[in-house]
Amino acid sequence: MDGYVTPTLDVERIRQDFPILSSTHRGKKLVFLDSGASAQKPRAVIDAMVRMMEASYANVHRGAYHLSEAATESYESSRRAAQRFLNAADEREIVLTGTGSTQAINLVAHSFGRGVLKPGQAVVVSEMEHHANLVPWQMLRDDHGTTLRICRVTDAGELDLEDLERHLADGQVGLVAVTHMSNVLGTVTPVAQIVRMAHAKGARVLIDGSQGAVHRRVDVQALGCDFYVFTAHKLYGPTGLGVLYGKLDVLEQMPPFMGGGDMITEVGLERSLFAPPPLRFEAGTPPIIEAIGLHAAIDYVEGVGMEAIEAHERSLVDHATRRLSDIEGVTLLGRAQDRGGVFAFALDNAHAHDLATLLDRAGICVRAGRHCAEPLHRRFGVESTCRASFGMYTTHAEVDYLADAVTKAREFFS
Ligand code: ALA
Repeated sequence: MDGYVTPTLDVERIRQDFPILSSTHRGKKLVFLDSGASAQKPRAVIDAMVRMMEASYANVHRGAYHLSEAATESYESSRRAAQRFLNAADEREIVLTGTGSTQAINLVAHSFGRGVLKPGQAVVVSEMEHHANLVPWQMLRDDHGTTLRICRVTDAGELDLEDLERHLADGQVGLVAVTHMSNVLGTVTPVAQIVRMAHAKGARVLIDGSQGAVHRRVDVQALGCDFYVFTAHKLYGPTGLGVLYGKLDVLEQMPPFMGGGDMITEVGLERSLFAPPPLRFEAGTPPIIEAIGLHAAIDYVEGVGMEAIEAHERSLVDHATRRLSDIEGVTLLGRAQDRGGVFAFALDNAHAHDLATLLDRAGICVRAGRHCAEPLHRRFGVESTCRASFGMYTTHAEVDYLADAVTKAREFFS
């Protein structure tokens, strides 16, 4: 399609696995550049979920009959797939949550924040956090008495490590909670270094891998982080499922997040005993079908190979940086050295929503607004931006098509 070949990744072949990518959108070929919001699903994921519902579905951890035992085994094997994907040492370190990273982070804020952190201790977040990794810490501050420290982002869109060092200096920080990859700037943060810096001062580290886990290989043992979260729906899997990795000894110190079935070992009318991790944090019927979808998504991504995905995306990023920077009147947010396939941009004289509407007429799907990162937009002095974000199926031709459409839009708005 675009005459470009990444040696290890056959994009055209991959695109055939995603049914929606061969569809039309208002009579135009679909150019889907909003994978950062939610990625499209390969046939393998769709089929695995349908198969589960048609042939193998029952509730898990509850039935004494074979179908339920088999469903339980499938659900637990999804946990093991997530363990493998993150290279966690123990499957008990993987908690499957509802909704996505948002619930996983709220779980940590509620349970580690209120159960382990002491009032007066500080949580450090950065200016480039998604609201899901900011608001829960504001809520914790307001009702638990922790403080909140904000690490600055440089003009290039990188985490200011000197500022982080200053925040850590007094030894009062209990947790550093930062993104692995900004959903606006595309910046990939130096997470291993952040973990080393935080641990040297006795602080735990949570990494929001909502974008990072999709674009980079993650090894939580090598990183040494205390928590890592990601969401199935951005990893080509279904909505409604988040993954929380937590070091076992840390999870063991944490009280439950929600109460209900499955998270207990014994229940009395007055008191109950709680199950050990991970079930302590999985109250109620879990997202069973979604877990099967996640397993299929992980298998799919691993089948393609994270190194190949990364190489393809690096090439796309170079291409998009060149093409978008060349358009007069376009301002790109962020120029980090290490970045992934997310480009937020503004066009002179055009409101982001108007530009997105115009692009939509050409079949191009981009996100417009503040992308759940309002403080970051304020930091860069812009009201709103359009954002193009890539998946493993994005082609260089699609980037060209976007650049050409923005160039045409420039004439329209001038
Ligand atoms: N967090 C998603 C995004 O960045 C929805 O668009």
